[in-house]
Amino acid sequence: MRPYDIILKKRNGGTLSREEIEFMVSGYVTGEIKDYQMAAFLMAVYFKSMNAQETLYLTETMAKSGDMVDLSKIEGIKVDKHSSGGVGDKTTLVVAPLCAACGVPVAKMSGRGLGHTGGTLDKLEAISGFQINLSSEQFINNVNKYKIAVVGQTGNLVPADKKMYALRDSTGTVDSIPLIASSIMSKKLAGGADAIVLDVKTGSGAFMQTPQEAIALARSMVEIGTGAKRQTIALITDMDQPLGRAIGNSIEVIEAIDTLRGRGPSDLEELAIEISSHMLICGNICGNYKDAKAMLLSALDSGMALNKFKNMIEAQGGDSSAVDDYDKLPKAKFKVEVLATHEGYVEKINAMEIGNAAMILGAGRATKEDTIDPAVGVILEKKIGDYVESGTKIVTIHANDMGLAKIAYDRLLSAYAFTSRMPKIQSLIHYIVNSQGVFTYEYK
Ligand code: URA
Repeated sequence: MRPYDIILKKRNGGTLSREEIEFMVSGYVTGEIKDYQMAAFLMAVYFKSMNAQETLYLTETMAKSGDMVDLSKIEGIKVDKHSSGGVGDKTTLVVAPLCAACGVPVAKMSGRGLGHTGGTLDKLEAISGFQINLSSEQFINNVNKYKIAVVGQTGNLVPADKKMYALRDSTGTVDSIPLIASSIMSKKLAGGADAIVLDVKTGSGAFMQTPQEAIALARSMVEIGTGAKRQTIALITDMDQPLGRAIGNSIEVIEAIDTLRGRGPSDLEELAIEISSHMLICGNICGNYKDAKAMLLSALDSGMALNKFKNMIEAQGGDSSAVDDYDKLPKAKFKVEVLATHEGYVEKINAMEIGNAAMILGAGRATKEDTIDPAVGVILEKKIGDYVESGTKIVTIHANDMGLAKIAYDRLLSAYAFTSRMPKIQSLIHYIVNSQGVFTYEYK
């Protein structure tokens, strides 16, 4: 086999075999296939795409390029959850303890934030002492003992994706459905879970800006998961405005804890309950949605979910007293109020702009090498549908640098659009995609 022939075959719209795909991916990981050849291959995939079978071969080959996590020593059906990334998306901090409290073993590997989107690990590290690096033995012991552990990627997980993603980033080949789907799902397969619930975001703050794009990505990922014999379902959820009100690491932890206490923002609670209910069903804890929802609400009411969050913090070296005393979390020096310059209903909040403003304050990273400030961020005081008068506070900035707060102020103001009529409020979950097809989401 020669890389040249495989590139040409894909460039001409041909269908590649498992062997051809393996040859390209493993050759690239070992260095026998050069960057310029892989770049041409990726561009050919970008233009000619891949069918479901090719995408599954690509994903499985990438997953096997490094360590495959073995979770077989954890009892029960391990259910993973993945979000395609959004602004203010702290659902894992709520979903993981909720599901653990209901008996689903949650052995989760999470990532860091980049650009306008945040990352679960950065949020957890806002808690003093919290360790995201555990040995595999510790990871497995914690899940067996408490049903919950959230860590960074351990070992040499999917080196093919690391190398290919960096190349895609610099060759204009990121936004290709088979390449995104294989990149995400190879990490999920290597992560070792038995079942996967995907939260694919759509809207102004999402990677996939339209529902059609989000559905195409979700279908591809569900096909991969099903082909790899992992029960996989995807929810297509709204990211046309940030989730909840807090965007920033420490303040998002506070919002997640409030939600675990049953007094968080309604959209975050709703999404966490919906995702968790599918996790309970995939994990064979409940046979139907109604039972799952009742069980989850009781885990919130009884404080069991909050206790699981404390268990996890303690088991990972963190100061769990922060759960009851928010003063123990990092706090910004300054609070600046952003005031509306118009009167009317909030019609739109550009989620990407809000994410960028939080990044400017230091809550996120422009490049992977940047360090973040856990204390800073923004609280959205008004969301879509709220009525404001001119001069009303719409956002509170938490800043450690007044110069940066000034820059963020203008971005935040311009992220809001107002209208004289009450706008239509979108439902939070648009579709569900499973191995049977795509369905409009019905709240039960
Ligand atoms: N996230 C990933 O992990 N991979 C992609 O290709 C895009 C988003």
